[in-house]
Amino acid sequence: MDTAEHHKLDGQDILVVGGAGYIGSHVCKMIHAAGGRPITIDNLSCGHEHAVKWGPLERIDIRDREALDAALSRWPGASCVVHLASSIEVGIGERDPANFYSNNVVGALTLLDAMRAAEIDRLIFSSTCATYGETETMPIAEDDPQQPSSVYGKTKLAVEHMIQSYHAAYGLNYVTLRYFNASGADADAEIGEEHDPETHLIPIAMQAAAGRRGPLKLFGTDYDTPDGTCVRDYIHVNDIARAHILAMKQMESGLTRAEVNIGTGVGTSNREVLASIGRVTGHPVPYEDAPRRAGDLSRLYSDEGQAKKVLGFTPRYSDMDTIIRSAWNFHNSRWGETRAD
Ligand SMILES: NC(=O)c1ccc[n+]([C@@H]2O[C@H](COP(=O)([O-])OP(=O)(O)OC[C@H]3O[C@@H](n4cnc5c(N)ncnc54)[C@H](O)[C@@H]3O)[C@@H](O)[C@H]2O)c1
Repeated sequence: MDTAEHHKLDGQDILVVGGAGYIGSHVCKMIHAAGGRPITIDNLSCGHEHAVKWGPLERIDIRDREALDAALSRWPGASCVVHLASSIEVGIGERDPANFYSNNVVGALTLLDAMRAAEIDRLIFSSTCATYGETETMPIAEDDPQQPSSVYGKTKLAVEHMIQSYHAAYGLNYVTLRYFNASGADADAEIGEEHDPETHLIPIAMQAAAGRRGPLKLFGTDYDTPDGTCVRDYIHVNDIARAHILAMKQMESGLTRAEVNIGTGVGTSNREVLASIGRVTGHPVPYEDAPRRAGDLSRLYSDEGQAKKVLGFTPRYSDMDTIIRSAWNFHNSRWGETRAD
């Protein structure tokens, strides 16, 4: 695996909260490859124990302050916390906001207070392009208005604000990374996207292409975009993981606060994603046109200038065919273990 070779972490312990999940497990693998030890803190509500391979697992819920304090005390030299744990399924957030606010906001507050008590003053927080909400001005830059329309986006923005207040009052150093659409998988196919329920386009389209589910529903074909379908910014999960290593190195060199988009700056339409899957895998995606879904924006892609300026980050693995190839390899290796019918 290509690693952040020039950004060695020199035996550091890094606490990865949500390290058993999709993005977290890739972050752990890259921390390990860069010479650090990832310590995963995860309640396995959505993550997978089999994805924790590069360091120990502390199986706790971050809202359990006592358990969290005990876990942090077992790793006294930890230099940084990466906070990825959250509820992420947008539809569930609309139906059950209490649970979302509890997990995402109360969870983050409990973690921040436990970090203060343990005197850990570096944080990398997983935020999202969903904090920007309704805007047709593209690309989106970090200082554009944040008016999230979903409960999910609102909880992530609330945590962003909380972190800014802890920086101002208590000296917490932080980098908030606003990821765009995470996609792809580890080149060795050891880990990948295994959400349940899965709501992301690429894994669902691959299941359809492999005949493991019915035709994909293509939501909205009459948008004001070149081919009528929604346009999104797909960033390879290993590029996201690299951004964390770069953020850690920048904080070591004195960066005290930053909000940074992690995207490619390139918009890819849903039809283009499906075409890439057909081309790369040799299995065309069966699909049927469906009406627009409420709340979907027509276009969403990042201004990537700040990531380059603040972190020295440019994507390496995020061309669509590389994303598709890596995801297909991963899903195929899993399906090989559990064949359809
Ligand atoms: N996947 C994307 O495209 C995307 C895009 C933007 C932002 N993000 C953010 O990145 C982060 C990771 O996303 P992901 O796709 O890897 O999700 P995921 O569900 O695969 O991983 C989240 C992990 O957090 C754990 N977790 C949740 N609540 C917890 C709690 N209370 N205590 C301990 N552990 C808990 C889960 O078990 C899981 O392992 C999330 O914060 C998400 O909001 C993801």
